[in-house]
Amino acid sequence: MTASGLLKRLAIGALALVLPIVALAEPIVIKFSHVVATETPKGQAALRFKQLAEEATKGRVKVEVYPNSSLYKDKEEMEALQLGAVQMLAPSLAKFGPLGVREFEVFDLPFIFDDDRELHKITQGPVGQKLLRKLEPRGILGLAYWDNGFKVMSANKPLRTPADFKGQKMRIQSSKVLDTQMRSVGAIPQVMSFSEVYQALQTGVVDGTENPPSNLYTQKMYEVQKYVTLSNHGYLGYAVIVNKKFWNGLPGDVRGQLEGAMKAATDFANAVAQKDNDDSLAGVKKSGKSQLITLTPEERAAWKAAMNRAHREHMGRIGADLIREVYRETGYDDNKS
Ligand code: LMR
Repeated sequence: MTASGLLKRLAIGALALVLPIVALAEPIVIKFSHVVATETPKGQAALRFKQLAEEATKGRVKVEVYPNSSLYKDKEEMEALQLGAVQMLAPSLAKFGPLGVREFEVFDLPFIFDDDRELHKITQGPVGQKLLRKLEPRGILGLAYWDNGFKVMSANKPLRTPADFKGQKMRIQSSKVLDTQMRSVGAIPQVMSFSEVYQALQTGVVDGTENPPSNLYTQKMYEVQKYVTLSNHGYLGYAVIVNKKFWNGLPGDVRGQLEGAMKAATDFANAVAQKDNDDSLAGVKKSGKSQLITLTPEERAAWKAAMNRAHREHMGRIGADLIREVYRETGYDDNKS
């Protein structure tokens, strides 16, 4: 055998030894925890990301989705992400305050967005990107915004005027802006994990709550709420976030493939959210368990006038410059209903 023939053989032999190791290499696991049902916009988008990510990386990445608080509840999941026990989350924008990133509460300001078009000017524009970068000092990278929708208000009494809220115990997410929003109409806000809301409503620990129809429906909250006011008084959506060290430590090609999958999953999330909420509302209506209330323009204006207190009181906390920037983009006018 010639020297080059020998070398060739040796190379093939070495390859044969390495190949099974490569083939058997453990996939990179991304644990994606969230608190809502699989049938919601976020639940569907998480599964879409899993499918696209696993396809794009040809199995080098495995995404494990844990819905419905099955792995962690609201507060725990943020801690778990920072510790690296879970790699990806999509918490509601109202849940970043306790992390010390108060600017995200700008999204909670009542009536700040009239519709998705105004919202997307922020979430798909430079202001949204600037906000995501504020997470980095906390060891978190923000990858995308996923839509859910505008919130309805539910209770066991009809909520039409601000006076109707007086003394009602209302479950809220952990946002100071939402706390003020409820107090501004005389309600008593109570912060509570999403996983505990159904039972709290059922047992009367709280009287009512707010959420987009997709959550109201899939958590069956409508079964324990007599009235649902279609107020669209505020927005609830998500930031998809990852543990920064984990993400930056990924092989470059894998990270690129995952970014592509995230972009496609984001387009999907934002395309299905409105329809999911419409279908959920139709489901609530069909159940006949809650009565739906539509506000007159005057009633809605009265909510807006009262809840505007949340804008005034949180200018300093959230940042007046940021709030004004959002006003400029969306054309928010506190005198207009
Ligand atoms: C809530 O706690 O009401 C929502 O943030 C749940 C969710 O993730 O949609």
